[in-house]
Amino acid sequence: MPLFNWKDEYSVNVAELDQHHKILIDIVNSIYDNCLRIDTVDCIQPKIRELFDYAEYHFTAEEDYMRRIEYFEREEHIELHAMFIFKLKEMQQAYEGNEIELTKSMIVFLGKWLLHHVLEEDRKYALYAQGIN
Ligand SMILES: [Fe+2]
Repeated sequence: MPLFNWKDEYSVNVAELDQHHKILIDIVNSIYDNCLRIDTVDCIQPKIRELFDYAEYHFTAEEDYMRRIEYFEREEHIELHAMFIFKLKEMQQAYEGNEIELTKSMIVFLGKWLLHHVLEEDRKYALYAQGIN
C-alpha cells in the first residue's frame, strides 16, 4: 500500500507543478514500498538519487513560478526547499554509514515533510496567485 495518495485538493492550480508533486509522491511511495520492509538499504541508493534529482528540478521550477507571480514569501519558501535538500543529504549520509533504521526513519520523515509542504506551504502561493488573478 502506498504511503500517500494524491488527492485533487492538493492541487496548486498549476498543472505542471501538480504533475511534479505527483511524481515526487510516487518516488517517496516507491522507496517506501520497495525498500522499507527489508533489512538492507541497498535498494535505496538509486531511489535517493532519483528523489534528489527530481526534488531539485521541481524546486527550481516552483521557485521560478513564485518569482513570476511575485510571491512575497518566496525567500522563506526557498529556505524550506533548501532544508529538504539538506535533510536528503543527511539521509544519504545515514545510508552511507549503513545506519539502516536511521535511513528508514528519515524516509518516513521526508515523505511526511513533502506532504505537509505541498498541503500547507505550497497552498499559500496557490491562494496568493488566486488573489492576484
Ligand atoms: Fe514548495
